[in-house]
Amino acid sequence: MAKAAPANRKKEIEELRERLRYHEYRYYVLDEPEISDAAYDRMMARLKELEAAHPELRTPDSPTVRVGGAPREGFQTVRHARPVLSLDNAFSYDALREWDRRVREGSGKEKIEYIAEHKFDGLSISLQYEDGQLVRGVTRGDGTTGEDVTPNVKTIRSIPLRVDAPALKKAKLQADFEVRGEVMMTRKAFEALNRQQERIGGKIFVNPRNSAAGAVRVLDPTITASRKLDFFAYYFLVDGNVPFAKHSEALEALKQLRFRASDDWKLCNGIQEVIAYCENWDDKREKLPYEIDGVVIKVNATSIQNELGYTAKAPRWAIAFKYPARRETTVVKDILVNVGRTGALTPVAVLEPVQVGGVTVSRSTLHNMDEIERLGVQIGDTVLIERAGEVIPHVLKVVKPGKDRKPFHMPKNCPECGSAIHHVEGEVAYRCVNAACPAKRKESILHYAGRHAMDIDGLGEKIVDQLVDKGLLKDVAGLYALKKEQVAALEHMAEKSAQNLLEEIAASKKNSLARLNYALGIQLVGERTGQLLAEQFSSLEELAAAKQEELEQVPEVGPKVAASIAEFFSEPANRQLIKKLAKAGVHPTAEKREVKSDKLAGKTFVFTGTLANRTREEAGAMVQQHGGKLSGSVSNKTNYVVVGTDPGSKYDKAKELGVTILNESEFEKLLDLK
Ligand code: IVH
Repeated sequence: MAKAAPANRKKEIEELRERLRYHEYRYYVLDEPEISDAAYDRMMARLKELEAAHPELRTPDSPTVRVGGAPREGFQTVRHARPVLSLDNAFSYDALREWDRRVREGSGKEKIEYIAEHKFDGLSISLQYEDGQLVRGVTRGDGTTGEDVTPNVKTIRSIPLRVDAPALKKAKLQADFEVRGEVMMTRKAFEALNRQQERIGGKIFVNPRNSAAGAVRVLDPTITASRKLDFFAYYFLVDGNVPFAKHSEALEALKQLRFRASDDWKLCNGIQEVIAYCENWDDKREKLPYEIDGVVIKVNATSIQNELGYTAKAPRWAIAFKYPARRETTVVKDILVNVGRTGALTPVAVLEPVQVGGVTVSRSTLHNMDEIERLGVQIGDTVLIERAGEVIPHVLKVVKPGKDRKPFHMPKNCPECGSAIHHVEGEVAYRCVNAACPAKRKESILHYAGRHAMDIDGLGEKIVDQLVDKGLLKDVAGLYALKKEQVAALEHMAEKSAQNLLEEIAASKKNSLARLNYALGIQLVGERTGQLLAEQFSSLEELAAAKQEELEQVPEVGPKVAASIAEFFSEPANRQLIKKLAKAGVHPTAEKREVKSDKLAGKTFVFTGTLANRTREEAGAMVQQHGGKLSGSVSNKTNYVVVGTDPGSKYDKAKELGVTILNESEFEKLLDLK
């Protein structure tokens, strides 16, 4: 039993939470961090440590509980306090003028004060706060009832888990309220996600909206947490009513309460100013970090809003102006292949140049072979293309097959480096697995330097771009041959920072084999697999020499992962790279795990749910220290399933198969900790 926490511990915990909340706000809402990631991580680690030692002081709104709980079985449906309505659309400025006429007629006013704001293209969410604390997040659903996605929205860092009492008081608001807004993904996060998906051979998302919506509506909150979502707030309710005289006051209050709300709204006097706002943003919207698909116009005065009221589906006091879809037809002259930053081959249609919404388009992505088959597109066809927010437009459909149409085939060799192209039967991607292929160079180096890989602080995109573009860096082994003068001569670099970077690079040689396994960027080999491999093969050479069958013996490594590893090392350029790394001094051997006993030898454990006294990783390490094995899924071979709070489907599987189920205290007994 943990002892009751002394008062100073309680105070330290509360202060840490307050500081972490503030820094999350600086980082995720304002985009203006004041401290380094490392300093933030240290504070978070300290808070976790204190909360682990004093479980009685845990609270559901602590910054430590952003990611918590195991995957659930399904969503609960929740009734909205006030229906979440949609908005009527206007597709032209004439339609806006017509709406303005109805608003003026309905209110008896000659000129109306409007608020024009961005129409965020995401997934609408209602957040419910009680006593200043976030208690529920619900999707729009059918408007009357939605799905309870609370654990998922809690992982979104720009959503406050708690709103401070002084801020509420200042805004003269009570502590029970509802905020509505849109969950979004920035273009940058979306592109990074797709690159990551490409790397692991996962699903490629079509646009930021889809990936954001998908990430909120998954049962496993750790997936939501990994997607880097944002939330923009635009509506504030107390007991289903707007507690402000004007909508502009609500937008200001939301910011005071530290919600992320757009700064780009504008108070417009009359519809002409609204139209000017729409025109202005039509040009500028491509430059925003996220996608908007229109402008929402709202009557500013709450009294007039109430007078106008609602139709069955939408408020009469608001309308969505939608920017016209940018579509055009043209001819596919050729289909080329582009090697992406992760080595995946993307077919690209070369088009007869055509104007789409003021931009000349001559290329269009076709994503992959599956997409080409789905569209049935061939060289010579006339196609309909669409340019949404993204830079590269996509093909919507074939409108007329070409007379002398020619089908497209993937090349056998990489167009960039000539290495053989790999394709796993049944998978979508075709890829070049040469880690030093020029097309992948920058991405491989960035991945290698990443925090969870070799952790080379300071080796970011700007520096890698310059090093590669200047021909100073051809592969990751080249990092260790960089000279101080070369680094110091780069933009944004000085003597001191060059020195620091070189020291970081040198220090990375001491990293574990587990990290190096992951850092190489082998398809499907994530951090955990890197670790598991390091437990079986004591050096890279050993791993490189392993046969597919041997690789499949590694816990949690299935035939696909094993094939991908074997494929990586079958590439001569990659074998060469390992030699170069070893020569540069990057040659870790597997760390021997501390062995305490063999009392769990031959026993396989699965963990599910949250444990009270330790993390699952810590518990897993304990099992291994006593000779036991871990597995990610329950089967007839599992000996024990250890169950914490909120267990997932593994618990049911264990019951179904009759596997021995332990709670945390029984697990401790098994290890003689009690
Ligand atoms: S206000 C009663 N403001 O667009 C008024 N909605 O097409 C509630 N949306 O369901 C909506 N940006 O999901 C509002 N600035 C904004 C918005 C916005 C995006 C979404 C929202 C709504 C949908 C209607």
